[in-house]
Amino acid sequence: MKNVILLHGGAGGLYINVEEHTKRVTEYSSRSLKFATPLEVAIESVRQMEDDPEFNAGTGSVRRLDGSIQMDAAVIEPWNFGAVMNIERVRNPVLVARDVMLHSPHVILAGDGAIRFARAMGYADYDPGTEKTEEIWKKTKELLASDSVDIPQRIVEYRKYSNLLEKIGTTDTVGAVCRIDGKFAAAISTGGASPMIRGRVGDSPIPGSGLYAGDKGAVAVTGLGEEIIKRTLSFRIYSRIGEAPLKKILQEEISYFGESPTGVIAVSGTEHASYTNKFMSSGFTEF
Ligand code: GLY
Repeated sequence: MKNVILLHGGAGGLYINVEEHTKRVTEYSSRSLKFATPLEVAIESVRQMEDDPEFNAGTGSVRRLDGSIQMDAAVIEPWNFGAVMNIERVRNPVLVARDVMLHSPHVILAGDGAIRFARAMGYADYDPGTEKTEEIWKKTKELLASDSVDIPQRIVEYRKYSNLLEKIGTTDTVGAVCRIDGKFAAAISTGGASPMIRGRVGDSPIPGSGLYAGDKGAVAVTGLGEEIIKRTLSFRIYSRIGEAPLKKILQEEISYFGESPTGVIAVSGTEHASYTNKFMSSGFTEF
């Protein structure tokens, strides 16, 4: 069985250019092969997408309603996990998540503690904001201000997929799953699903929700974190590996999400597959 690295650049967000993003993620997948282990290859894939301002992760992460940028990222291999939640002002959250796993006594660090840890590990102060995300934020504020309903109420509606999501929503994450010599890993990173308030955490840094990897495969998910968390989507998919063709499992599990934008990539011992109920860029390299 060939080794494979499979990437996605997010699903369902308003600002996704599927054709262009597919080219980029395919290129990034082939550039990741200089590393030897599934974990290193998955992390390198996500790091490249974080550095590409086209994607909602690292540089190019969307803003919270208060204008701040808080990012989530995670890495996983069988029986090992590391994540950061609500981290700010670092260039590559996925590398900090890796260091939480490898160089801290914990598995998840959040907020100020995650930033302090990153600085202690040598990560410099970095502004991941871009003009594009500044524009998205301004547009979001204008739409919210022009609405008669107050902001908390609008966020409740957004979670029910009101037209607010259609007008200004970003639900995209970036992710990678990898199989090398029958071993698996996944990595994931996001600026979050906007509009969102400061402090909100999505599915990405939560094991079993945004990502999972074990002895029979790896899964990474994108979409509206609130809904993904409620279904522990990644673990549900992982636990079904082997029960049916992989693509069929992905289709069945995503069918529960109705209109909520959701996408997934997965690898098993013999297959790799991607699926979304909206639109999603994805690309892979076999080697
Ligand atoms: N899936 C990204 C998020 O909800 O934060």
